[in-house]
Amino acid sequence: MTTNETATTATSPSPTSPNPATTNPATTHPAGLDLLMTRASVGPKHLGLPGPSDAQLQTMVEAALHAPDHGELVPFRFKVVRGEARQTMSRLFGEAARRAGKDEAGIAMDEERALLPPITVAVVAALDMGHPQVPAHEQWACVGGALTNFLNAAQALGFGGKMLSGAKARDPGLVAAFCEPGEMLLGWIALGTPLRAPKTRSPKAKAGNALQFWGE
Ligand SMILES: Cc1cc2nc3c(=O)[nH]c(=O)nc-3n(C[C@H](O)[C@H](O)[C@H](O)COP(=O)(O)O)c2cc1C
Repeated sequence: MTTNETATTATSPSPTSPNPATTNPATTHPAGLDLLMTRASVGPKHLGLPGPSDAQLQTMVEAALHAPDHGELVPFRFKVVRGEARQTMSRLFGEAARRAGKDEAGIAMDEERALLPPITVAVVAALDMGHPQVPAHEQWACVGGALTNFLNAAQALGFGGKMLSGAKARDPGLVAAFCEPGEMLLGWIALGTPLRAPKTRSPKAKAGNALQFWGE
């Protein structure tokens, strides 16, 4: 039942029902939730060897495949860049920087960025824009869920990572290098072993808007 919204609504709690997951003021969490509550990005400067193995990458993708996915479209691709391919990506980052009008120092910095993490994973959205039941925004939601699950799995396996994009994710040369026709380049996950603990997260200014009880 991928598109029957009526049946979904009929079995949902009313919008005024208390939500047991949010009305319980417990300060300790089950182990699985602890992982979600501590997930934090680790930037490329703070990532070292070893990077994840093939089996560990497979596990991260398996976690990504558990993201909510209306119609089971799998509208995402994770493209691993490692070994010699890092040099190729570095050259392409440099070419993109040149096209963007950066000076030699800026070009060199972008080339270096591609080489910092042991492994980079390009995140590509492969949306079915003409799907009769699943509009693009639902497919994007799946891509975001997949990315988050991938990062959570990486952290659970002891790795650090950070999703990065910037203007180069829209550079036509890089898009052509990473995407099949019709696909979109979201950016790149830098992945490796964290060389330092992630920074402590301070509360987000707009966090108070995130939970609302509609109809109360
Ligand atoms: C699609 C996407 C692209 C992003 N691109 C960048 C980026 O180019 N530069 C950056 O500093 N953060 C970028 N971020 C945000 C970081 O990945 C990270 O989430 C943010 O720095 C907050 O850190 P945290 O994940 O520890 O909360 C991006 C996030 C997403 C989802």
